[in-house]
Amino acid sequence: MTDDRSSYLIHARDVRYRYGEGDISQYVLKGADLSVRSGEFVILAGPSGSGKSTFLSLIGALRKGQEGYIEVASHDLLNCHEHEMRDIRRKIGFVFQQHNLLNFLTASQNVEMVLEMFNGRFDEQHRKEKAREVLEKVGLGKQVDYYPRQLSVGQKQRVAIARSLVHQPKIILADEPTASLDGKTGVQVVEMLHHMVKTQGCGALVVTHDNRIFDYADRILHIEDGVIMAG
Ligand SMILES: Nc1ncnc2c1ncn2[C@@H]1O[C@H](COP(=O)(O)OP(=O)(O)OP(=O)(O)O)[C@@H](O)[C@H]1O
Ligand SMILES: [Mg+2]
Repeated sequence: MTDDRSSYLIHARDVRYRYGEGDISQYVLKGADLSVRSGEFVILAGPSGSGKSTFLSLIGALRKGQEGYIEVASHDLLNCHEHEMRDIRRKIGFVFQQHNLLNFLTASQNVEMVLEMFNGRFDEQHRKEKAREVLEKVGLGKQVDYYPRQLSVGQKQRVAIARSLVHQPKIILADEPTASLDGKTGVQVVEMLHHMVKTQGCGALVVTHDNRIFDYADRILHIEDGVIMAG
């Protein structure tokens, strides 16, 4: 495997992060290293409280880093301006553990909203078409106009996946995407993400405890007490 730095989508070195200030602050990441290349599906597993979500939120530019080095899609996250963070988020599809759909918007509108935020040049008709296209891909072509309350838990999570993919991100970050799903639906969701990685040349970092997903991974990394180890 080449060690050409330019092939990394994610390159994190010696990442340290602490919550709180002064005497009560505590490091939850204690020198975490991790890299993901284009076309790779990487799993990060580890016990509750080991720092998985914290790490993912740093990589996803949802939280500003404190110490170490984090490069995502060629941006240096610790040394970039706030307005650059927005450009970085545009290159990322984030799937949260809870689907976080807006209940007063339909499945289609939940997906369109991302395009409105990130691809301002698309007009409404174009956004609707794109949303339908990606909802069809996740098997929800018949439910585009349904509200979240009319969808099952698995369907809601699939809308969330559609929402994370609609702007064609280079990087997919997923925090326990199958936690609320039954076995069969969970596998479908992961197959979808895996397919995206292998056909679109993006990279995925998926946090999970779910060992049914492990077979899909190119690499499985373990995090314990804020330190990442190769599996
Ligand atoms: N906002 C916060 N303020 C203070 N401490 C926090 C905060 N968020 C998380 N922590 C602490 O940081 C540690 C790591 O939390 P994190 O959510 O990253 O773990 P996790 O590996 O994702 O766990 P889980 O598997 O339960 O989701 C935990 O001890 C948690 O209590
Ligand atoms: Mg977590």
